[in-house]
Amino acid sequence: MKATITVLPGDGIGVEVTNQAMHVLSRISTQYGHDFTFHEALIGGIAIDKTGTSLPDETLAIAEQSDAILLGAVGGPKWSDPTAPVRPEQGLLKIRKHFELFANLRPVRAYPALSQHTPLRSELLENVDILFVRELTGGAYFGPRQEQGDGDSAYDTMLYSVPEVARVAHVAFRAAQGRRKQLTSVDKANVLASMRLWRRTVSEVHEDYGDVALDHVLVDACTMYLMTRPASFDVVLAENMFGDIITDEASVLAGSLGMLPSASIGAEKFGLYEPVHGSAPDIAGQGKANPTGTLLSAAMLLRYSLGLEAEAMALEQAVEAALASGARTADIAPRGGGFISTEEFTQTVIGAL
Ligand code: IPM
Ligand code: MG
Repeated sequence: MKATITVLPGDGIGVEVTNQAMHVLSRISTQYGHDFTFHEALIGGIAIDKTGTSLPDETLAIAEQSDAILLGAVGGPKWSDPTAPVRPEQGLLKIRKHFELFANLRPVRAYPALSQHTPLRSELLENVDILFVRELTGGAYFGPRQEQGDGDSAYDTMLYSVPEVARVAHVAFRAAQGRRKQLTSVDKANVLASMRLWRRTVSEVHEDYGDVALDHVLVDACTMYLMTRPASFDVVLAENMFGDIITDEASVLAGSLGMLPSASIGAEKFGLYEPVHGSAPDIAGQGKANPTGTLLSAAMLLRYSLGLEAEAMALEQAVEAALASGARTADIAPRGGGFISTEEFTQTVIGAL
């Protein structure tokens, strides 16, 4: 098939990991007789430096002409002044909103070989395989706010409508149907009005999915259960900010933030795929970045936006095979043991394809 992929490397290690993902996707394209074209464009701090805005119109125009977006990471100390009028993160929020990518899928698995990298006892990590579905275009991130004013007060608003909750709940229930048929919805219904609407709506949507077991968990309790009984979760649905927080927490289960992929999807096939990790300015440009999160994001791109399930599985299996063969980047290397570079790791994956 012919496909056009917009690549937004962004800042820091985003550049290295997207580069490696393009190599892997090119290899898959040749191997399976596809025709993938890559268009690179600007987002984040580098876009601020070059154009004065974190998401130039040209980037949106390029992305609109494509089938999917592969994104690296945005941000860095150079642009992190909280009082700055333009910030790299705004570009990320804007592109999610622009394409109505309301559901963010973040799969988290525990890799037995990496258990020494987690602070949890290894028996707790057995069979940990969770799919987080995070609402991505609503809640406090996008609600009415006031931050200038007299400087003495500021507010954000956690605002949700029934259709906004229902559409992401459908994504989560459908995902659960394809897995272990268990959905945990996270909220704070004991305190927040918006979260009572969330709980009520998820329960209503549940009526369409009699084969899925639903439970509601308060977000504070959820953070605890993720550490005390992570293997009990199948699909976890959360509103935007809660989902942001608990997925960083859950990354601990995987051994390294560098392992985690994500897919941001909407009502159509178009989606944005990015590793969960940030730009890691401390290791940028040193070949130390773990490309796994980005390679697994590329696999999700193949699956959800291009409908290439066999290719997606082949890539996921090649990443597994590389890990099984002992290939380790710095973040997942055994204590005192050796590690290979971002590029060498990718070559091992390509070799296993
Ligand atoms: C994430 C990040 C972003 C978010 C930031 C960079 C705006 O933390 O994708 O999880 O909060 O959504
Ligand atoms: Mg986050």
